[in-house]
Amino acid sequence: MKKKENRYKYYDVTPNKVIYGVQAIDRCLACSDDDWRVDYLGAPTVNLSNLWLDIESYANTTGFFTENSEALLKRVIELASDKGDWILDFFLGSGTTAAVAHKIQRKYIGVEVGSYFDDKALLRLKKVLAGETVGISKEIGWAGGGAFKYIYLESYEDALNNIEFNEAAGQTALKFDDYLLSYMLDWETRESPTRLNLQQLASPFAYKLKITRQQEITNQAVDIPETFAYLLGLDVSTRRVYDDNGRRYLVYRGALDHREVVVVWRDTAKWEQKDYERDKTFVAAQKIAEGADDVFVNGDSLIPGARSLDGVFKSRMFAPMGGMRGAN
Ligand SMILES: C[S@@+](CC[C@H](N)C(=O)[O-])C[C@H]1O[C@@H](n2cnc3c(N)ncnc32)[C@H](O)[C@@H]1O
Repeated sequence: MKKKENRYKYYDVTPNKVIYGVQAIDRCLACSDDDWRVDYLGAPTVNLSNLWLDIESYANTTGFFTENSEALLKRVIELASDKGDWILDFFLGSGTTAAVAHKIQRKYIGVEVGSYFDDKALLRLKKVLAGETVGISKEIGWAGGGAFKYIYLESYEDALNNIEFNEAAGQTALKFDDYLLSYMLDWETRESPTRLNLQQLASPFAYKLKITRQQEITNQAVDIPETFAYLLGLDVSTRRVYDDNGRRYLVYRGALDHREVVVVWRDTAKWEQKDYERDKTFVAAQKIAEGADDVFVNGDSLIPGARSLDGVFKSRMFAPMGGMRGAN
């Protein structure tokens, strides 16, 4: 084994200074010149200092106040990552980071709190997929393609708007102190959509919440199957739709803690015994659960080895942060 002090590969450019494990150099290692400086190489042809005046920092392709240029983000992303790496921008703005990451084949996650998300970052990314020609497109020969997924998180205000309790309970609540009030809210609002109404899981494709967007309240469908996949922490490999004579099935397959997990969603409202029999036959015929270690299904079922996901959904949704892993 090498001696400890020889294991270091770093050099200190300050002459006449020897620090433990760091070798001082007073000449350029490549050319032996004694009048030289260190450059950080970004691209093979550009020597970068820490002042980047060779590219524009701002751009105006979206009309967003502080839109960074794609050239700038390309340089930053290329300096810090390789193809296929993850890029995170939790202040997405006009979406420059995501647009560039997409074009130069990084995976990316963006977060935006502004209500202009639809008109700025989302619209821009759709154009990127369609092969727009602004920013770095020409330089890299961007021709479009690819996919991205976006989700709206339920806001605190939306959660409050979706709490429902009957008038009598509401009147009584006004008379209680804080402790009793919170206890009562817990019980009286247990069937509100925002608290995850288990009965509504029978119609998972029609689960709705009141959502306020641009001062307007609308009843919007919520993607319950996708939410469950997130809550479970499922590493999704396929998401397939089946049709049994008008009966829609949505089936997730993925990995969780080295186990193959299948999640089956279908509309079971008003189902009788014969419907569950038909369900069991269809799932077997289509080999939907084949090879799975765990099979989750919404509501009841006769599918051999399957368990209802309803309780797991509820407990995951309100679990404290940190205790979320595992399928149990
Ligand atoms: C300076 S802009 C980002 C510009 C962006 N890099 C571009 O090139 O267009 C900052 C963005 O962060 C958003 N933002 C600020 N606080 C946030 C938060 N807590 N969560 C999510 N987004 C936030 C703002 O709404 C704004 O759109």
